[in-house]
Amino acid sequence: MSTLIVDDARASTPIHALSASDWPSLLQRLAPSARRFAESVQFEPKPGRHLLLPGETGALECVVFVEDSGKSAPERAFARGALASLLPPGDYRFERAEDDLALTAFAWLTDAYRFEPYRAKENKPAAVLVLPEGVDAGRAERLARAIAFGRDLINTPANDLSPDGLETAARELASDFDASFATTVGDALLAANLPMIHAVGRASATAPRLIDFSWGDRAAPKVTLVGKGVTFDTGGLNIKPDAAMLLMKKDMGGAATALAAARMVMSENLPVRLRVLVPAVENAISGCAFRPGDVLRSRKGLSVEIGNTDAEGRLILADALALADEDAPELMVDFATLTGAARVALGPDLPAFYATDDAFAAEVMELGVRINDPVWRLPFWAPYEEMLASRVADVSHISNTPFAGSVTAALFLKRFVEKARIYAHFDLFAWTPSARPGRPQGGEAQVARLIFETIERRFREAG
Ligand code: BES
Ligand code: MN
Ligand code: ZN
Repeated sequence: MSTLIVDDARASTPIHALSASDWPSLLQRLAPSARRFAESVQFEPKPGRHLLLPGETGALECVVFVEDSGKSAPERAFARGALASLLPPGDYRFERAEDDLALTAFAWLTDAYRFEPYRAKENKPAAVLVLPEGVDAGRAERLARAIAFGRDLINTPANDLSPDGLETAARELASDFDASFATTVGDALLAANLPMIHAVGRASATAPRLIDFSWGDRAAPKVTLVGKGVTFDTGGLNIKPDAAMLLMKKDMGGAATALAAARMVMSENLPVRLRVLVPAVENAISGCAFRPGDVLRSRKGLSVEIGNTDAEGRLILADALALADEDAPELMVDFATLTGAARVALGPDLPAFYATDDAFAAEVMELGVRINDPVWRLPFWAPYEEMLASRVADVSHISNTPFAGSVTAALFLKRFVEKARIYAHFDLFAWTPSARPGRPQGGEAQVARLIFETIERRFREAG
């Protein structure tokens, strides 16, 4: 059911979004019965609160929503989306039309998202946002649908989303947009010289694979998205303790983001040649699992000493990045739930990112604030390269110190990239621990919209 409608004329309940300091003057302008109601329930105008006000007949007349005046304009526009879950079913419109309604519409839709395939459906009617002519409701809906697609993939437990299930989801997406699709599965990974994807994934009952699809005009600038697709991360032989393993169905969150962003690029028909690579594996435990101390040969030819089988993501990404780098994309971006260290540094809501190009990084940071999909840049800090030194191989995949875990992981990945003109890496959490406006609790395709909007700005406006 759609929760957006574009129609100026339709009868709808007005929403007054205001800051606390504007409340007294609105109160004075209300009809006497509404004012008496607000006073009798002793409404306190605190940010995030709303009040349903009755008219003379007692029916709902208008809604008051209190905003945080300390927040930026995009944050406030986004926060209004929370009303999608707060209001009773009905049609609503915002009183002031000068606000960023496109952002509010997107937040409204993503706020209303629920993951319920495992529960009896409630089929509750929704609160519908009526938009004035001129707001691109279709775009908001398509972007929100892409986010919901990514969230569904993350929220789906590993017993229903194996590397095979991830392949099916990617295949369906590619087919919806007439993209050309290929996979390399199981031992074929060895023949195709993708040995680290094979090594990490071979202990699982479901074969490891590389998902690879391409879309768009071959002559257009090449943009490649790579997503970590670990459908479950036990840690491997370096097994994770129970609490750390509990949420590891989300370890394909990078793949979900890459697929959600790809969906946006394709649905908005951006003038790029898009390639999406997802190494999909389960980091499982069995007699044929890879081990600490093993030395793996990588696609790029570098030998890699394994220090800890729980640092699996960077291994599968390294082979995928090396492959992607061979066709020298204009822009190559990877997304991965790569390190606990990134979350320690920046918390669950602010993904870390790394970029080889300062202008690109500045653009990403600025856009993140503007569209409320924020990120924070960390450095590819070259002096820490020595933390990846190995005594037996060309490189170790983990640091020999407890420091800078997200930075050293990023440095490891960068070793496998040479030809891409711009390379960026996002270290994600892919999960919203407790609900916020527009962000229900659970899986989140963090930065999908951000990277889509960045690509759109770079390539639509130039081309
Ligand atoms: N998937 C995890 C990282 C992770 C954990 C992301 C929790 C988000 C939340 C990754 O595969 C991992 O286990 N990384 C290790 C690396 C370490 C062994 C060098 C980590 O961060 O502890
Ligand atoms: Mn791991
Ligand atoms: Zn992992």
